[in-house]
Amino acid sequence: MSLTQEQEQALIAAAHAAAQNAYAPYSDYPVGAALLFDDGAVITGCNVENASYGLALCAETVAIAKALGEGRRGGLAAVAVVGLKADAEPITPCGRCRQVLNEVAALGASDPLVLCVSKDDVRRVTLSALLPHAFGPGHLA
Ligand code: THU
Repeated sequence: MSLTQEQEQALIAAAHAAAQNAYAPYSDYPVGAALLFDDGAVITGCNVENASYGLALCAETVAIAKALGEGRRGGLAAVAVVGLKADAEPITPCGRCRQVLNEVAALGASDPLVLCVSKDDVRRVTLSALLPHAFGPGHLA
C-alpha cells in the first residue's frame, strides 16, 4: 500500500506527538511510533525506559503491544518512526522491533511501508526489506 502525502504527513505527526510522551530519562533519546491499519485506525507508542536499563521498551514494541492488546491481528499498512534527536540520519527500527512489527504484518499477510523519520529526511522502506526471510507465525503453523 502506498500512502497519499496527507496520510504520510498525518502518520508522521501522530508518531511525533507520541514521542512527546516518551519516558526516556536514561538515554534522553525520545522516540514515537505510529501504526496505520487498513481500516484507517492509528495506534501509537513511545519508548519506555527503566532504571534497570536493559528493560527499556522501544516505541514500536509499545505500539504493537497496544495494537495486539486491542485485538488487532493483521491489517498493518504502514508504520512511522520518529526520533526527536535524529537529525540528519533517519531512525530505523531496531532488530527486535522489526521482528515485533513482523508478527502483526504476517498475521494479515501485509508488507507495511515503514517511514523512518529525521528532522531533515524521510526514508521509505518496506518491512520485508528491513527484515528479509523473516521468521513468523507461519513457521509454527
Ligand atoms: N528506541 C526505540 O524506541 N526504537 C528504536 O527502533 C530504536 C531505539 C529507543 C530505545 C531506547 O529507549 C532509546 O531509543 C535509545 O536506544
